Amino acid sequence: MNYQWYPGHMTKAKRQMQEDMKLIDLVIELVDARIPLSSRNPDIDELGKNKYRMILMNKSDLADPAKTAAWSAYFQEKGCYTVCLDARSRNGMKKVNDVIMQACREKIERDRKRGIQNRPVRAMVVGIPNVGKSTFINSFAGKACAKTGNRPGVTKGKQWIRLNKNVELLDTPGILWPKFEDQEVGLRLALIGSIRDEILNTDELALELIGIFKRDYPGLLHERYGTDEAAEALQILEQIAKNRKCVSKGGVYDYSKAAALAIEDFRSGKIGAVTLEAAPNAGQARADAEGVRQGGSE
Ligand code: G4P
Repeated sequence: MNYQWYPGHMTKAKRQMQEDMKLIDLVIELVDARIPLSSRNPDIDELGKNKYRMILMNKSDLADPAKTAAWSAYFQEKGCYTVCLDARSRNGMKKVNDVIMQACREKIERDRKRGIQNRPVRAMVVGIPNVGKSTFINSFAGKACAKTGNRPGVTKGKQWIRLNKNVELLDTPGILWPKFEDQEVGLRLALIGSIRDEILNTDELALELIGIFKRDYPGLLHERYGTDEAAEALQILEQIAKNRKCVSKGGVYDYSKAAALAIEDFRSGKIGAVTLEAAPNAGQARADAEGVRQGGSE
């Protein structure tokens, strides 16, 4: 699903999220592990400042494992619990459940001391469009999920999914708006397919992508397309067109077709497991941590 964000749209989403925040203990934020920073909206730090916080590094099957580990450490240093995930699989879901329990242990302990038993942790899933929120909810809830419907004392119309005796999830995820202001951020969002392709210049996007591969992942383009690593990005695009027979009627190379092919191959992980942005240096997270509840690390 693609959204066109405009100020009114953002204000409405923000207001809705502020309302939903009142109902929950824990914010489960999904980011795309290939661009962990560009795929998040930092406003969530303010919106969820009094809540327990968890960041799921989703689509980690497509991301560079070493960089995913560095990003996890960064977010943990900021006071968020983290789990690396492929939301399409149910394999990681026990881990998610365990980490929810860790993240909310203060509350669970407080309830226990007051003699309150079995009051589930209430959580909400948030993230920018296409990051995998619905996929995650489906995998996490599985078949066992039961919608609990409207509950007395809870805002009318809210549906909760009872996952097990410990956790309840708001069934509609909170949609965060991507931040396009920074050109680099816009570029990365475009590369992972979070901006509608019709409004993009695919050729330019592919040249940027080739540049990133040349700089950060030398050898991968050669492995996939047999291209010359030392060549300029445009020449590499031409080599891709040649080697993949992207030729238009008059026998000229079809750069756009080659560009679309490279972008698609990147998005589906065929070129390799790649992360487009590096985690800030250790210590930076502490400086950034203002406004984030200190919850400890995984
Ligand atoms: P959203 O609710 O946040 O908007 O995202 P949604 O769950 O709709 O997921 C967006 C796309 O990302 C889907 O692909 C989904 O299958 C895919 N996806 C979600 N999590 C993961 C993951 O961990 N790894 C990978 N590789 N892909 C993931 P789609 O192309 O829109 O649909 P489909 O082709 O899978 O049916």
